[in-house]
Amino acid sequence: MTERRKIAVLISGRGSNMASLISASMDPNYPAEITLVISNKPGAPGLERAAEFGIETATIDHKDFPRDREAFEKALDEKLKEHGIEFVALAGFMRLLSPWFVTQWRERMINIHPALLPSFKGLHTHERALEEGVKLHGATVHFVSAEMDDGPIIIQGAVPVLDGDTPDTLAERVLAVEHRIYPKALELVASGRAKVKDQRVAVSGEDPELADTVLIWP
Ligand code: GAR
Repeated sequence: MTERRKIAVLISGRGSNMASLISASMDPNYPAEITLVISNKPGAPGLERAAEFGIETATIDHKDFPRDREAFEKALDEKLKEHGIEFVALAGFMRLLSPWFVTQWRERMINIHPALLPSFKGLHTHERALEEGVKLHGATVHFVSAEMDDGPIIIQGAVPVLDGDTPDTLAERVLAVEHRIYPKALELVASGRAKVKDQRVAVSGEDPELADTVLIWP
């Protein structure tokens, strides 16, 4: 059995991506183990979901640190270190992190974003994709850098945009892809197969799932 890396998942909401990571890590051969879930929002539904899986949870409410992002991030960093966390996975964690925190976790922190980066950084990605009339949309997992929704890309998943799509129907199709690519990205990172080199991610080793595919739409 490969050595398993200790992972914390940071959430702010429902935690469906968190649940996909936890489910993947139930396989003892998966190289990562989710040992801690932290929310910056008290009562985030993802906390209860994590607890149902038997995972330790914590809340570090950013509102307890008014106008003091540094103190909030120090508390977060301390909690992660206390638990011997090796990698951090942001899963719908809706706080911007400072360069200080990002540097602490450089190349050890990943994020999922509901768009094919570098298109549609920020919020309301599905509305904006529909407005622009793109034919392919999707999701990206990337290492976190100090810029918002930026940093070396590990994996992307694309879906077609269908006639009649609404932001909700498109979001649902993208979310299904998120739940597939996030566990795969964490596997690549935790096993050491995905490494940053010159601001890009190089993936070593063979993987039939990552074989060439072309998605042309319509
Ligand atoms: C997901 O769609 C995730 O990609 C997005 O928030 C949602 C969280 O859902 N993240 C961002 O927009 C970050 N920029 P979840 O709590 O069910 O995983």
